[in-house]
Amino acid sequence: MLSIGHITIDSPLVLAPMAGISDQPFRLINRSLGCRFAFTEMISARSLVYQNKTTIKMLSSPVEDRPLGVQIVGADSEIIKRALDILSNYPFDIVDFNAACPVHKVVSTGEGAGLLREPVKLQKLMKVIVDHADKPVTVKIRSGWDEASVNAADIALRAQDAGVKGLLIHGRTRAQGYCGQVDYAIIGKVKKSLTIPVIASGDALSPRLVRKMFDETGCDGVAIARGALGNPWIFRETNAYLKDGTALCRPDVHEIAQTMKNHLTLLVRFLGETTGVIRFRKFFGWYTKGMAVKHLKVRAFHAETGDEMLRLTEEMETIPSSCPPINCDV
Ligand SMILES: Cc1cc2nc3c(=O)[nH]c(=O)nc-3n(C[C@H](O)[C@H](O)[C@H](O)COP(=O)(O)O)c2cc1C
Repeated sequence: MLSIGHITIDSPLVLAPMAGISDQPFRLINRSLGCRFAFTEMISARSLVYQNKTTIKMLSSPVEDRPLGVQIVGADSEIIKRALDILSNYPFDIVDFNAACPVHKVVSTGEGAGLLREPVKLQKLMKVIVDHADKPVTVKIRSGWDEASVNAADIALRAQDAGVKGLLIHGRTRAQGYCGQVDYAIIGKVKKSLTIPVIASGDALSPRLVRKMFDETGCDGVAIARGALGNPWIFRETNAYLKDGTALCRPDVHEIAQTMKNHLTLLVRFLGETTGVIRFRKFFGWYTKGMAVKHLKVRAFHAETGDEMLRLTEEMETIPSSCPPINCDV
């Protein structure tokens, strides 16, 4: 159970925001397998204000895609306020502010993780967002900019002072990107110093690693990110493992194939056939990770129609060697 402001979620696991990944079809697939709360991909406040068509599309969500948090990125308080006005017309449950994105294009404009180098400015922005948003506000940070400037504890206190209702922390610095050791100690330190809930992120790749995150940091929730790529079952398996140590078996090839088909159908419906199939190509690779189907992956990478992709998924199902190991390793 996890409570953020007045929002109560009956699992401590959330689907992390992932740009280019956490679209509506991806969220729905994860929800069908036990995800109870999801974030949208990062949405630029500026693009929203300029009514960028792709950005507006990112805001759509059916009722079965709730409760849902929207994540915005920006560094200009006036633009952010206008973006929040637009967001108030949508049924999001939480507004998350991104102070974690490490991408050069983002940090070079002072946004995302760039704000970790300007704690005072970040605190002021958080206050503006809390005052202006009509929903509970959370913020996502990293442990710091680099090894020499790990300042998450200070930033976290500033966030709480600004009225933020929950904090997501990726236990890596901006300099680390997505590699290297997750700093469990800094997450634990942040958790100890706050009264608002802390959702930890970093290498939540299996039920056992999620358990480790809880044990080592005392966090209130864990955000699943790369662990869900081609593996929405991580929610079902981790919920069971956290409840009573049950180690569920991995899905068999037929369940994987059926989930792939559902995902593809949702993507084609949401993005249209051409873009939906292109977006599914990388998912074909993720869903079939560890299977002896390299020839199918190569063809999937060039597939252009939904039918072509469906046939590849069906072919995958008929190849005995494509069965992933049915073990119960968590
Ligand atoms: C492809 C990709 C896109 C991401 N996009 C975002 C994003 O838009 N906003 C954000 O706060 N974090 C983003 N992240 C970071 C994740 O939310 C998460 O904090 C990070 O991947 C660490 O968790 P993991 O090691 O379990 O993957 C992204 C990560 C990946 C791999």
